[in-house]
Amino acid sequence: MGGPIIRRKDALGVHSLDRFAFTVPDIALAEGFYRTFGLCALRDGTRLDLATDASPHRWGTLVANGRPKKLSYLSFAAYDDDFDRLAARFAVRGRADAHPLADSRGAWTRDADGTLVQLVAGPKVSPAAPTPAPAAAPRLGKAAAPSRSGAPRVRACYLSHVLLFTPDVQAQVDFYTQTLGLRLSDRSGDLIAFLHAPHGSEHHVLAFAKSERPGLHHSSWVVPSIDDIGLGAERMRDAGYSKGWGLGRHVIGSNYFHYVQDPWGSFAEYSFGLDYVPAEVDWVPGDHAPQDSFYVWGPPVPDDFVVNHEGP
Ligand SMILES: [Fe+2]
Repeated sequence: MGGPIIRRKDALGVHSLDRFAFTVPDIALAEGFYRTFGLCALRDGTRLDLATDASPHRWGTLVANGRPKKLSYLSFAAYDDDFDRLAARFAVRGRADAHPLADSRGAWTRDADGTLVQLVAGPKVSPAAPTPAPAAAPRLGKAAAPSRSGAPRVRACYLSHVLLFTPDVQAQVDFYTQTLGLRLSDRSGDLIAFLHAPHGSEHHVLAFAKSERPGLHHSSWVVPSIDDIGLGAERMRDAGYSKGWGLGRHVIGSNYFHYVQDPWGSFAEYSFGLDYVPAEVDWVPGDHAPQDSFYVWGPPVPDDFVVNHEGP
């Protein structure tokens, strides 16, 4: 994302969710899905890295191993001069060996669910300001909409967040706030919780939903406008990826969304307009009633939207 260093002076914590990684049965299916979705899908044998046009940063890594989809690890980045103090927390927690699919940089530990977590020193790849402003309004006297065949291809700007299943939302909140310095944005009892980073962050870079087991529910990708959400969803439908949920607007985080179901039952989310927590702002967490906090408007929630497809 570049730009000036955005930093909160009185907080020790990571600034970015740097990468998420999971294994899938078939890398060609993954390549087709994410390329159509609007990402740069960089294939190397059985490995696929996910980037955007905006930077060479690789936000996601998928590796095919012939087995059902499974979350592998998360990687978070901190400012260079915060690394040692954060790594010391990893040591107190208990150092772990690097995930075999990852590079061995930085420090590793396990979160409350036993999922491997990497800490690296690196640039702030999370946005330094709210999501990009929509394109300028069209001039009066000229038609604004493109033809259907002439509609632009949607391109994602950056990874916004991932949402993980967990059997113990509070234990995960405790780990990620106390060890990595993330902060609670909002929650709904012990069912779901959303965390932001302290040095200028979208409303959530990481979220948890209660389930019987750990797992990856969705990755969320920012697009430049609500129109891009609709265009992306339409393109995915045309390509056969018709299952999902949207267009709608969330209450918690305020973003407009459309979730597209991937070939393994989890989702990739088009997102625009997520709330932003500047480094100098203390966001006051809310505890929202579940029935009044999921979405403001949108189609009915699909029956399998919160099914965890990852086995024990
Ligand atoms: Fe999301």
